[in-house]
Amino acid sequence: KLIAVIFGGRSVEHEVSIVTAQQIMYQLRRDLYDVMPLYIDKEGAWWTGDVLAKLESFKAANRNAALAQAARVIVVPTPGGGVIEDPRALRGLFRKPRRWTPDVAILATHGTYGEDGCLQGLLEMAGIPYTGPGVLGSAVGMDKILMKDVFRAQGIPVVDYMWVHRDEWHEHPDEVADRVEGELQYPVFVKPSNLGSSVGIGRAEDRDGLFHALDVAAGYDRRLLIEQGVVSPREINCSVLADGKDLRVSLCEEPVSWEAFLSYEDKYIRGNFTKGQTGRRIPAELPDGVTETVQELARRAFRAIQARGVARVDFLLSPDGSIYVNEINTIPGSLSFYLWEPSGVSFPDLLDKLIEDALG
Ligand code: DAL
Ligand code: MG
Repeated sequence: KLIAVIFGGRSVEHEVSIVTAQQIMYQLRRDLYDVMPLYIDKEGAWWTGDVLAKLESFKAANRNAALAQAARVIVVPTPGGGVIEDPRALRGLFRKPRRWTPDVAILATHGTYGEDGCLQGLLEMAGIPYTGPGVLGSAVGMDKILMKDVFRAQGIPVVDYMWVHRDEWHEHPDEVADRVEGELQYPVFVKPSNLGSSVGIGRAEDRDGLFHALDVAAGYDRRLLIEQGVVSPREINCSVLADGKDLRVSLCEEPVSWEAFLSYEDKYIRGNFTKGQTGRRIPAELPDGVTETVQELARRAFRAIQARGVARVDFLLSPDGSIYVNEINTIPGSLSFYLWEPSGVSFPDLLDKLIEDALG
């Protein structure tokens, strides 16, 4: 089978996606699959080529450039409307016309366009099976407000929240702040509805902080989510995997250094995020019954948004014992393999199951 691994893309999570894709390409069983890397650059142009040989030498700082260099042939039109500027690549394309249709695409594309239904729609149109949820599940999973609306409607516990449109915030800031203060208590979190990786997220302790946080978030999205902050929460994550007709749940993990919240730097630059189990406690040490509750809620969250393949559901555990679903990630970093290995599913097995699920 020819397996395309699609990664990169016009997303703030571009670099993380490269890491996830590298891990996938190393772990796919070579006796069963041929691997076709499909790299989408930051302009939205698509590249393929013999990048695997080069992956070894990637330095964290210039992964991108190295990858773009290693890629050779452009095989698909650029969905972002990007212009292909390398004439050599075009010559190659015309001299040796080749039709490559992958049997399955494994999506390693985190964030905007890759995890939100856009890429999924393109693949539906092309008739290429792909891993993870379809257009609807992807879109709901990426939009924090819609996701919470769906969870709340289905009785899945989420923190109190409200949302405002950016225009409303710009035109009537005091009224918006009054409303927030009427409905929620400080501290609150302010988030652009549709961006990942903690980008544009702020925590507000008072009205000044709220004004600032709303201004920042308004730079990223039209719809702004304001959430009731949970004081001194523990963060617990749990992964869900479609295994044939069943849904399996992983062990729970707890990131070890919880600060005010995990910022983008914490997750990706300082490396807590990409180094597998570093900085994570697996299994998380939880009071009696909490693991089971978390796992059951993870299953329900997965079903609620019509997820497929593998997803990671992130929870907040408040000191008073309340458990809230914070979000679901439909293309989790590293596909959550580090949660599945200690749960008895190796990374190659995980990929087999995802491919089966995509074809099913
Ligand atoms: N969006 C990142 C990759 C995650 O939460 O796993
Ligand atoms: Mg996320």
